[in-house]
Amino acid sequence: MEKPGQALGDAIGEGYAAAMSARYDADFEAIFGGPDRGDLDFFRAIAASAGGPIAEIGAGTGRVALAVADAAAGEAVVGVEPSEGMRAAFEARLAAADPRLSARVCARAGTFASAPLPDASQALVYSAFRSFQHLLSPDEQLAGLVEMRRALRPGGTVAIDLFDPDYRLLHDAEPFLVARYPRAGGGTIERYDSRRILRAEQLVEVGFRWIERDARRRVVADERGSYRIRYTFPYELVHLVARAGFADVALFGDYDGSPLGDDPRELVLVAKRPGAKPAA
Ligand SMILES: C[S@@+](CC[C@H](N)C(=O)[O-])C[C@H]1O[C@@H](n2cnc3c(N)ncnc32)[C@H](O)[C@@H]1O
Repeated sequence: MEKPGQALGDAIGEGYAAAMSARYDADFEAIFGGPDRGDLDFFRAIAASAGGPIAEIGAGTGRVALAVADAAAGEAVVGVEPSEGMRAAFEARLAAADPRLSARVCARAGTFASAPLPDASQALVYSAFRSFQHLLSPDEQLAGLVEMRRALRPGGTVAIDLFDPDYRLLHDAEPFLVARYPRAGGGTIERYDSRRILRAEQLVEVGFRWIERDARRRVVADERGSYRIRYTFPYELVHLVARAGFADVALFGDYDGSPLGDDPRELVLVAKRPGAKPAA
């Protein structure tokens, strides 16, 4: 269990780390109708052409890391994740997977600020489903990108995704229903979110709440908490990545490689650590 004051827990916030990890996969699958939110083919494709070891930062329960390992035949995949609860769910996913696949994948404790990866060891370092948005200031973001570059081989690839800020949604919102799904043993689970915008800091404070009812509609759990994430504008991200020493920066509006449009969707960035790829 995460304890208050624990360094890794501090990186994510106690409320988020402990509460989210227990419900992450069930919420995710209820919201997106399965483990894929349209991002897996993108990460599979860059992994298949990586040609060396792969690391995901903020790997959560291993949703993407296992798909990536499947696409990158023979390559080792490390999922770096600060939350003990998330890593436990990742390990449960590994235990349920084909052992030929899970033998190449592991979950390790770490953060964007400090990833347990040797210098210049990875062909691909990526972050999926907005984990990067847990970095709450430009200084933290820059340090995270520099850490990703440190772990990459010369010529290696970095890929990160964020949400593309939609001006129409950057306002406070009262709690709204995000998902309702069946509870094991009967009844329902409802997930509600609210948001508060801290415009000067480019932060969204997300309030979350689960109301769990048994088959007779009695409330058997009512849990809530909050976390903050930072929104970043497209060319702000391009500048940050350049400051962190990356080159060949490409920015997309979605996982299919389409350009940014007037209707914001995803912000998907791919760049290279400068330097030649070592000969195979
Ligand atoms: C929305 S989840 C995404 C998980 C996974 N990448 C996926 O696509 O399903 C965000 C993850 O980022 C992790 N996280 C939060 N702060 C972090 C930090 N400072 N460094 C690394 N990971 C962090 C959280 O614990 C959580 O597992």
